Amino acid sequence: MADAAPAVTGDAAKVRVSLASGFVAHCLQAQWRGVALLLVLQVAQVLATLLLPHLSADVIDLGVARGDRSDVMRRGGAMLAVSLAQVILAIGASVLGARLAMRYGRDLRAQVFSHVQAFSLQEMNRFGTPSLITRSTNDVLQLQTALLMILTMIVSAPLMAVGGVVMAVRQDAHLSLLLAVSMPLMLLAVALLMSRTVPYFRKMQGQIDRLNQILREQITGLRVIRAFVRDTSERARFSTANDALTDTALHTGRLMAAMIPMAVLVMQWSTIALVWFAAARIGAGTMQIGSLVAFLAYVAQILMSVMMAALLFAILPRALVCARRVEEVLATASSVADPVSPQDLPKELPSNKPTATPAKGRAVRGLEFKGVGFQYPGAAAPALHDIKLRVEPGQTVAVIGATGSGKSTLLSLVPRLFDVTAGRVLVDGIDVRELSLQALWGAIGLVPQQAYLFTGTIASNL
Ligand SMILES: Nc1ncnc2c1ncn2[C@@H]1O[C@H](COP(=O)(O)OP(=O)(O)OP(=O)(O)O)[C@@H](O)[C@H]1O
Ligand SMILES: [Mg+2]
Repeated sequence: MADAAPAVTGDAAKVRVSLASGFVAHCLQAQWRGVALLLVLQVAQVLATLLLPHLSADVIDLGVARGDRSDVMRRGGAMLAVSLAQVILAIGASVLGARLAMRYGRDLRAQVFSHVQAFSLQEMNRFGTPSLITRSTNDVLQLQTALLMILTMIVSAPLMAVGGVVMAVRQDAHLSLLLAVSMPLMLLAVALLMSRTVPYFRKMQGQIDRLNQILREQITGLRVIRAFVRDTSERARFSTANDALTDTALHTGRLMAAMIPMAVLVMQWSTIALVWFAAARIGAGTMQIGSLVAFLAYVAQILMSVMMAALLFAILPRALVCARRVEEVLATASSVADPVSPQDLPKELPSNKPTATPAKGRAVRGLEFKGVGFQYPGAAAPALHDIKLRVEPGQTVAVIGATGSGKSTLLSLVPRLFDVTAGRVLVDGIDVRELSLQALWGAIGLVPQQAYLFTGTIASNL
């Protein structure tokens, strides 16, 4: 019954949401050695990549053009060595980046998991189980992917773009003016596309939540659905949510798919313009063939890195949404927390006999409810009101009442699944809110109304 409680968003929105970048900063701090190595690898790799077209220009202009065979072999060998180094550096950077991002995902998931474990039923009801599942799986995965992108591109893309421009200008300053047209053109095209895609990314996360919620309700409520012949309407409900998500995903997919052809188009136009202008210069003898080849390569590198940077900006908003959702969970403190200075339960007495006469005032054995009242959050009326009950050690008590009269609620106050809203619950004379949670739970054996079996054998469940 408590299962199907939807998230009360109004309350969740009140949770102070700190900046999502805090996560990344935290991760980078924890693994700073790996990050530093990654940066070094990336810088080295970019430098090698930038050097290659320059070398090839020399091979053509100084070797091939003059027909100097040994020079071609020598420079060719150098090129081979640089490109080999570039490949090794790139592989190293990819592996390291992936490893860092995976570790970050693992740690964040573990953090969310252990945080949610401490939640009382109240927080569980507020977020809703489906949303908590999405947040700790899908949302964390999005963050992990985003971090991978950030780690691989944050340094290399700008470095490649700037380095490419510098090298291109060195090859031929006049032709470089063309870059002043093609680079903004590329940026504009990508920015236009992104501004249309980002809102859809945002929408998608909410829709995944919704789909999860419906699916979970339908699987757990399968028998009820069959018994009340609700198949058709439930199927329709699922279809609606499923179609909505599919539509959004398709829409974003289509927009993203337009990106590569568009980038290629800008790139090809730039190439055509370059060759056109360069042909005149080469004909006039003010430019060499090798320079043109190198120049073309630099333009491709520059435009590629511009596109990569844009891609990063495309996934960042989605990751930011996910980060906020995860952060919301982490920022929520359990309403049932360990007290500041927890007390221990009095030591077990040697014999099992009840101590009706308290030794020093507070060592009263047994369980006691003192004027206990409880109201579910958001409920109109209290479920329990002014309950007085004393259970002596060894005594068996049965609480009898109509359905919904509050028997389960009464019991759930003892292990602090909920905290009382009035009065006190005492175990061996100590308020349960003053006991350490471990001591309290260790002293209680609870058989819930609805048995829940974990995966595995009966033995592993016990
Ligand atoms: N999570 C919840 N949020 C809001 N109200 C709740 C919640 N759980 C129970 N209630 C309400 O509190 C009251 C007491 O419910 P409780 O489950 O304690 O009854 P019960 O005596 O155990 O019933 P049953 O005999 O069916 O097990 C009911 O009116 C119920 O609707
Ligand atoms: Mg009950």
